[in-house]
Amino acid sequence: MKSIVATTYGGPEVLRSVDAPPPVAAEGQVLVRVAASSVNPLDWHELRGRPYLVRISRGLRAPKPRGQAMGSDVAGVVESVGAGVSRFAVGDAVLGFGLGAWSELMVVGEAGLVRMPTGLPMTDAGGVGVAAITALQGLRRGGLVAPLTWGPGEVEPMRPRVLIIGAAGGVGTFAVQIAKLLGAHVTAVTSTRNLALVARLGADDVIDYTTTEVTEGLPRFDLILELAGNRRVRDLARILTPTGSLVASGAPRGQWIAPLTSMARLAIRSRFSRRTFASFLAKRRRRGLPGRPHRRGGRAQRERSRARQSHRHALRAPRTVGLRWDDPATVGRTGQHVVPGIS
Ligand SMILES: NC(=O)c1ccc[n+]([C@@H]2O[C@H](COP(=O)([O-])OP(=O)(O)OC[C@H]3O[C@@H](n4cnc5c(N)ncnc54)[C@H](OP(=O)(O)O)[C@@H]3O)[C@@H](O)[C@H]2O)c1
Repeated sequence: MKSIVATTYGGPEVLRSVDAPPPVAAEGQVLVRVAASSVNPLDWHELRGRPYLVRISRGLRAPKPRGQAMGSDVAGVVESVGAGVSRFAVGDAVLGFGLGAWSELMVVGEAGLVRMPTGLPMTDAGGVGVAAITALQGLRRGGLVAPLTWGPGEVEPMRPRVLIIGAAGGVGTFAVQIAKLLGAHVTAVTSTRNLALVARLGADDVIDYTTTEVTEGLPRFDLILELAGNRRVRDLARILTPTGSLVASGAPRGQWIAPLTSMARLAIRSRFSRRTFASFLAKRRRRGLPGRPHRRGGRAQRERSRARQSHRHALRAPRTVGLRWDDPATVGRTGQHVVPGIS
């Protein structure tokens, strides 16, 4: 099979198309015939080996394992399944992410895949995986875990105010849509050329970062999702409500250990504050995937009780709520990506 590999760290010039033996799905894995993939900042970091911290897990001199195809996002059709796989069968159309998507065939852990929604073109589905899961998990990390609900006779709860910095990017375009579907009031920060795009995705307010500095003004956001990685935490903290959350997913620029210093800074600040400051790495786990109900307990439960105590968001940790990819009625195409419906 054809496979795109990198024999050393570098730019696109180090990529080679090679003939490789087809992989075999081991226990718990699914072999997917790849129809479409895409390029994420994650792939850039893995190809360049930067920040150098990446090389601890990916190999000191060249990406390992040797001969492993590059690429993360995948959309394709199940070719075979390993022992113990129960959710997929041969011929199923799937999307998700794993390691080695720039190849004709790729193995993915069962937890890294979901079934394709009806009518979604493979080329669109191939751009969903990493960006969508990062948006979903980032918002959940900040306490936005379920649609607003209120009973008969109850006052409609305040809509949480969410700021998304980097709203026009891969992660941001999903984050805007998911936050809106969860009932938030969304302010999106982007450059001039993308203002119309984020407005179309549903943002209530749009801010052009080339003309307006978002960190000026009163504390007004319950949740800030920072995807651009170029603002100081103390500046963002100024516009966060007293019990709000700052969730940083965009890594600050730096060759060596930039993500670690940023994580440490956020963790320390969080420790001494009523507010939450967190950086996070998207996880490939079913709990975070669409269609998978949140279990009660764990982080969701903690978020809920914290939200209740602080009256911050009238949000509920759902018992059965999840994104539904399989309902055509709730799947809408957008300029860049696909928005899944929320049940
Ligand atoms: N932690 C994780 O697990 C995880 C997973 C995926 C991605 N990430 C990280 O999350 C970040 C975003 O990923 P992505 O895939 O969305 O990247 P992307 O598609 O390249 O989007 C980045 C966006 O940032 C915007 N931007 C640039 N400078 C900005 C500024 N000064 N203020 C506001 N926005 C600005 C750009 O908007 P304009 O085009 O309008 O200039 C661009 O659309 C990256 O740093 C990536 O490494 C982390």
